[in-house]
Amino acid sequence: MIKTTLEQLAIFGGKPAFEEELPVGQVNLPPWEDFERMFSGIFERGYYTNHGPLVARLESRIADTLGVRHAICMTNCTIALMVAARALELRGEVIVPAFTFPGTVQALTWAGLEPVFADVDPHTHTLSAATVAPHIGPRTSAVLGVHLWGQPCDPDQLQSLCDESGLVLFFDAAHAFGCSHRERMIGNLGKMEAFSFHATKIISGAEGGCLTTNDDELAKRARTIRNFHNAETFANVGLRINGKMSEAQAAMALLSLDQYDSNCKHNRSIFDIYRARSQDWSGVRLRDFSGHGTHNFQYAVLETANDPDAIERDVLVELLRGENILARRYFYPGVHRLSPYVESAGPISLPVTEALCEHTVQIPLGPCVTERIAHGICDVIEFATGNAPTINQRLARERSGD
Ligand SMILES: Cc1ncc(COP(=O)(O)O)c(C=O)c1O
Repeated sequence: MIKTTLEQLAIFGGKPAFEEELPVGQVNLPPWEDFERMFSGIFERGYYTNHGPLVARLESRIADTLGVRHAICMTNCTIALMVAARALELRGEVIVPAFTFPGTVQALTWAGLEPVFADVDPHTHTLSAATVAPHIGPRTSAVLGVHLWGQPCDPDQLQSLCDESGLVLFFDAAHAFGCSHRERMIGNLGKMEAFSFHATKIISGAEGGCLTTNDDELAKRARTIRNFHNAETFANVGLRINGKMSEAQAAMALLSLDQYDSNCKHNRSIFDIYRARSQDWSGVRLRDFSGHGTHNFQYAVLETANDPDAIERDVLVELLRGENILARRYFYPGVHRLSPYVESAGPISLPVTEALCEHTVQIPLGPCVTERIAHGICDVIEFATGNAPTINQRLARERSGD
């Protein structure tokens, strides 16, 4: 039912627009028969982990898909970033955005490095050469860019800046499987890139991740570090870790890779509905990912306007959640505002990051969002944006108890 009065909104006592909850992080599951076939193979071989045949197959398929020399599968993206930092022999400070998932920054800390937060570009939500340059100092060894929402993180300008300054550039590509920077697939940028195959990602191993590089020596080092003893390719490295991917993870990720094209196509069709419908929303805009190369359309991200007549971000989130549309303030409050960084970072000025943390909302996109559901979500947002001042005022009044 399309809402026409304030009272029909669930936050004001109405019936939720959806009976089932619609999460933003949705899981693409393979058909059960395929899952059964893959897992009976694992049982028959009795080979469960330690660089098994499915991991080898997955590495080779990822390398082919991305056109990169080496794909090195790992337990997850966070471990992959830690291994990358060690393989690259980084020291001292690494420049990183605060507008990202905490794991990006935590990986640096676990690798014994000091994250230095740089602001992001308001149009791309990623680091840029302009935002990074002021933070380069004598102790900087690297820049860790994040291809947020699958958008390339200013790779050309950042590479030039890093080359001029003698810094290593590497990327967190957790969101970016299948995305490209113009003609170049992400996976080939910087010295190394780390992907996530978490259950909610476009390629899912339930958990999982992978490092990619075109550098043979770095690949050898990463393969050595991910295994805590000498069973694989030996490179001269010190500390190691258990970063191995299991056969079960590889099986899931291989099945997910088979479904990549159809999942992307579905995401794209839902995104196109959001894009078309968002033209009618005032004070809320959809971040558009099209037109910059290939994209996986894994995320639908809205930005609310900084305008008293526009719907407030937190009001929009509360209102949508009331309707069982489990929108998220993604990312909030920014990693620099989280422990342990909030205690150690000191006074720090990241105006664009702070503004984005106050104005971005992620809405559901993925297998559970059919065209009908997408239109239903748009109907709610259209009503909310069209009645923003009244909704803002009424919620403020109810909260103050008047
Ligand atoms: C940008 C970013 N980096 C890193 C990670 C961590 O990935 P994983 O859960 O595979 O360790 C995530 C997880 O969602 C992420 O969004």
